[in-house]
Amino acid sequence: MSVFELHGRKALVTGGARGLGAGMAEALARAGAAVAVADIREDIGKATADALAQSGVTARFVPLNVTNEASWEAAITRTIHELGGLDIVVNNAGIEISELIVDLNPQNVLGAALGIKHAFRAMRPGGAAGKGGVVINVSSVAATIAFPGIAGYSATKSAVDRLTRVAAMESGKLGYGVRVNCIYPGLVPTEMGTQLAVDMATLGLYPSPEAAAGAVIGLTPLGRLGEVSDMADAVVFLASDAARFITGVGLPVDGGMGM
Ligand SMILES: NC(=O)c1ccc[n+]([C@@H]2O[C@H](COP(=O)([O-])OP(=O)(O)OC[C@H]3O[C@@H](n4cnc5c(N)ncnc54)[C@H](O)[C@@H]3O)[C@@H](O)[C@H]2O)c1
Repeated sequence: MSVFELHGRKALVTGGARGLGAGMAEALARAGAAVAVADIREDIGKATADALAQSGVTARFVPLNVTNEASWEAAITRTIHELGGLDIVVNNAGIEISELIVDLNPQNVLGAALGIKHAFRAMRPGGAAGKGGVVINVSSVAATIAFPGIAGYSATKSAVDRLTRVAAMESGKLGYGVRVNCIYPGLVPTEMGTQLAVDMATLGLYPSPEAAAGAVIGLTPLGRLGEVSDMADAVVFLASDAARFITGVGLPVDGGMGM
């Protein structure tokens, strides 16, 4: 069996209804995992899970608002019940926030923090799943470079990066058996990524959304925007045994933009 295979593993992907999360759920399922598509949007989340299930993999929709503690408890319980365990949690859900600091919305920090907390409670020895596992948090290239117009977003994603490091340290020291890592995606033209380029133009930082995207490409040695599969494959790697000695890292998946 390849070290990248995930047969027998059970994964929960937050924000799995669309965009990067949907791609991550699909890639984890293709690698052999059973997946819970966990999202606040029941309409598109169910459709994503159904489409995956129709392709022959095990997939379920699980309702989840990542900023709500009771919602996390219910989602973890339901996932363990429906999939038979929990080995992988991908804290991907997030919101696009091109805004001034006076309007800062800390939702991205809250969602990831609660995600790590409830993943640990479930996966550590004595937890409802109890076999250890993997947590992957989705930070952003915005945590590694200064880009105009996204101070609040950068701050929340930098917090996700630091949460990752301390969580990896605590898990190791307390014997939870959970590896914790994060990825820093570059700009991907999902609904969120496309909106970000529009907002850059609206804020007057670039003459058009195309110019904003072009500026990102200009900063990227590999010379293109990211694709959903670029992020999804990195998540599969970090979830798999190929990454068995990797914890507490932030992996740039940005074509070199953040170097
Ligand atoms: N697209 C990019 O360019 C880019 C770059 C760097 C990092 N990221 C990060 O990647 C992640 C996914 O981004 P995307 O581009 O796929 O975004 P998206 O807006 O296309 O999808 C986000 C998903 O998260 C869900 N969601 C939002 N709030 C939620 C909540 N409170 N509870 C549960 N689900 C919730 C949405 O319903 C949606 O399905 C985000 O954390 C984002 O910050 C994206």
